[in-house]
Formats: sequence, C-alpha cells, structure tokens
Amino acid sequence: KKVVLAYSGGLDTSAIIPWLKETYDDCEIVAFCADVGQGAEELIGLEEKALASGASECHIVDLKEEFVKDYIYPTIATGAVYEGTYLLGTSMARPIIAKAQVEVALKVGADAVCHGCTGKGNDQIRFESCFAALAPELKVIAPWREWDMVSREDLLDYLAERNIKTSASATKIYSRDANAWHISHEGGELEDPYNEPSKGVWTLTVDPLDAPNEPEYVALTVKNARVTAVDGVELSPYQALMLLNEKAAKHGVGRIDITENRTVGMKSRGCYETPGGTVMVAALRGIDELVHDKPSRRWRDQVGQEFAHLVYDGRWFTPLCESLLAASESLAKDANGEVVVRLYKGQAVAVKKKSPNSLYSEAFATFGADDVYNQKHAEGFIRLYSLASRIRSLNAKNK
Ligand code: ARG
Ligand code: SIN
Repeated sequence: KKVVLAYSGGLDTSAIIPWLKETYDDCEIVAFCADVGQGAEELIGLEEKALASGASECHIVDLKEEFVKDYIYPTIATGAVYEGTYLLGTSMARPIIAKAQVEVALKVGADAVCHGCTGKGNDQIRFESCFAALAPELKVIAPWREWDMVSREDLLDYLAERNIKTSASATKIYSRDANAWHISHEGGELEDPYNEPSKGVWTLTVDPLDAPNEPEYVALTVKNARVTAVDGVELSPYQALMLLNEKAAKHGVGRIDITENRTVGMKSRGCYETPGGTVMVAALRGIDELVHDKPSRRWRDQVGQEFAHLVYDGRWFTPLCESLLAASESLAKDANGEVVVRLYKGQAVAVKKKSPNSLYSEAFATFGADDVYNQKHAEGFIRLYSLASRIRSLNAKNK
C-alpha cells in the first residue's frame, strides 16, 4: 500500500502523514509538493519536514513556467472572471497540481492519492474531479472527511502525542493559499462580511491608501492574447508575471474582497491579491476593445463567463474545456498589440492601446468632418432595424 499525499508542510498535511499510516495499515507515504510559485519560504526545508513526519520520499516538482504558460495564460485569454471580480488564482492551480500528483503516483506505483482539503470547500471537488479524469483507478483519501479532529489544537495534540515536531502554532488566524498568480485569505474576522479586512490580512500588496503619489506606467506587448514582453523586454510567461507582480504590488493594485458562491452551495468570503494578473487582464481587455467586432466581442464574453465557471467548478480535464479553449484561441488570433497601463493607488488602467488588427477607425469615428461615411445610409438601416416596433405600434393605433 502506497499513498501519494499533496503535501504543503503546513499543520494539516503534517498531521495527515501519521494519520494515514495508522488508519491505512502502515502504508507507505510519498509526499508530493508542486512548486507553483508559492514562494521559497514554503519550500525551504520541506523535504526534511516530510521525512521527519514519516514520509518515505518527498517529490517537489517545479511547475512555475508550465502553470503560467498552460493554465493561467489560456484562462485569461478567455476573459474568465468569476462572479465579477475573482481572477481564479486558486482554482487555476488545482488542475496542474492534481495532474503532477497523479504522475508521481503512477511513477512510484501508488494505489491512492490524498489531499488536505476540507469537506466544505471547492478544492476537494477540483482535485478529485481531476483525479477522476486522469487516473480513475487511484483511490482517493480525504482525511478531513474521515477523521474527527476539528481544530488546530486537535492537530497539534495529535502530533505532540506522537512526538512529531512542528513549527505550527495554535493561533494561525487566516487560511491562505499562494501561487505565482495570487494569494487568497479566508477565515478570522473575514468570516463576517460586515467586518472590513484588517491591515494584517493583506500580504503581497501595499495598501492603496499608502501607495506612491506618483503613477507608474508599464507597457505590455500582447501576442495572441498572451503577454510576451514588458517595457519592450521579451520575457517568459512566468518572468513577465513576476515582474508585473512586483511593479503592481507597490501601487496597491489587485486587491479584491468578495463574498462568493462555492460550488458546494455555501457562500464564503475571501480577500485575494492578484497584482500582476490584474495588470495583464487590463491589458488584454484593452486589446479586445480594439480588435473584436460587436458579435465577436459578445461571444468572447460568453466564452469567458462559461470558462470562469468551468475552472471554478473543477472541470479542467473535460471535453467542454477543450471546446471553450478552441473558441477562445480562435478569437485570440487577432489579439495582438501594445497597451500602456497606468498603476496608481490601487488602480491599473489601460491608458494607451494600439493593435495592427485594430478595427478602430478615426476616419469613421471622428466627430469632425469625414469623407468615408455617408450619414444618409443610417436612415434606411434604422427603418428596417425598428420595423417590428413600427408595425406593433401601428397595429395598436388601428385597433
Ligand atoms: N475561494 C477561493 C477558491 O475557491 C480560494 C480558495 C482558497 N483555498 C485554500 N485551500 N485556502 O478558489
Ligand atoms: C478548503 O476547504 O479546503 C479550502 C477552501 C475551498 O476549497 O474552497
């Protein structure tokens, strides 16, 4: 019996290791950790920690570039935004983590995969839906749905009784999830939506109230709805994101505070920071405004909406995902150009935009004199466009 555990080094997954051994016949535990850009602090000493808690091996897989290139970029190219503001930072990371975990499981010949998600959340659905699509033969173990520990104190006691050391404390206020794209904060005072988030919630960005009084401008080059260069310097997707994170965080860009609908039906309140991502999304929108005609733009908005729910609800490895991405990629062919975004006190505004595929024509749109458009043509168009209204109204008058 061998289990591959999605391990973070935090209190929950540290307690899971001894619990698995005791509950599942002294099984062998292989710890797995995906590096999706959560930061060095979370990864330093991780292997030693996993082994000290009783794992037999620890696999840390670097997925940073792949995460940005193959998950984040295609998702933002669709225009996906969940319930108006959430840029899906945690949701997008789950499929790539689950896929890499399955790969480790198949490599080491494991019979089961295990995660530390609670039975109340979205993440359990995302992980397990990916497992189902990729390796249905693997058994799934979700300790939070099985054991009867309920609090951090319970987990600390459990480890202490087994003489397993941990640096975790009983008083962790927030539940956080970080990767290259974002960090999420839930719990503590945020559980009451009538509490304003305290200063201590936010960890990546400067408070917009304390941000510099001078704006900063950053130029993004966009090719096929992907950011390929920043201020004229070509960068890999991950590098571009890191640079924009740094610039935007200084100006307090990318904070949101949302009470959202979870897939399981309950509402939850989260504060999320997506500095660089917010700049990228503003730039892509700027290009969209120039290049898509009205019906294409409307279709793109629909695809983005659908895609946001697909990602949020954990349906990455599905035929629907493939189909929506195909639609999005076909629209992305025209999404090329350059956008200058102004960063200032929490806002990222696309203030300059240009594209070789732009449909914007000053010659047509000008309020001054033009020689390309005959205003008389509008008359016949509007008569046909409003024909139904005219007939309906005439009918009413003739009754
Ligand atoms: N509510 C957000 C989502 O479902 C963030 C979840 C954070 N997850 C976590 N394990 N802390 O995508
Ligand atoms: C969890 O419950 O494990 C985190 C929150 C979520 O998945 O929605």
